[in-house]
Amino acid sequence: MSAETRPLTDMLSADAMARIDAWIAKFPADRKRAAVLSALRIAQAENDNYLSEPLMKAVADYLEIPRIAVFEVATFYTMYHLERPGRHVVSLCTNVSCMLAGSDRLLQVFREQYGIEPGETSADGRITLKEVECMAACGGAPMCEVGQQYHENLTTESLTTLLEGLD
Ligand code: FES
Repeated sequence: MSAETRPLTDMLSADAMARIDAWIAKFPADRKRAAVLSALRIAQAENDNYLSEPLMKAVADYLEIPRIAVFEVATFYTMYHLERPGRHVVSLCTNVSCMLAGSDRLLQVFREQYGIEPGETSADGRITLKEVECMAACGGAPMCEVGQQYHENLTTESLTTLLEGLD
C-alpha cells in the first residue's frame, strides 16, 4: 500500500483517533462531514503543524466524504497550514480595523527585522508570517495571533518585543 493510500488510523496516534471519533459521534451517522474542521485540526497538530496531501486524503476517506471537500476546507481557513511552518505561526490581521490602526507598520517589522513577507518563514525557521482576515478582535486593533494567543493594541515596539521573545 502506498503512502498515498495509508489509512488515517496508520497516520495518527490512538489518542488523536479517539478525539476525532468523539467529534464524529456528536453528529448523525450520515453527517460525518460535520467533524471535518475538528478532524483536520487534530490531524494537523500531530503532523508538525501542517496538513500534507496524503493526510488530507486520509481524513476525507475516514469521514467518507469527497477528498475535494476536505481540500476546500483546508485551503479556506487560515488556521490550517498546507506546508510545514516555522516553530511559531504569527497570524497578522490586516483587515479594515487593523489596517486603519496601523497593521502596515507591523508588516514592516517582519520585512525589516526578519526579511519575510506574508506566507514566508524566517531564515532561522522560527517565525512563519500569515496575513489573515478579521479575527473578531477589532476593539484591540491592530492585533495578531501567535499559536492560539491573541496579542492586541500592537505597536511596532510591542510586536518587536513579542517576536524577540519567541524561542
Ligand atoms: S479587523 Fe483586525 S481583528 Fe477585526
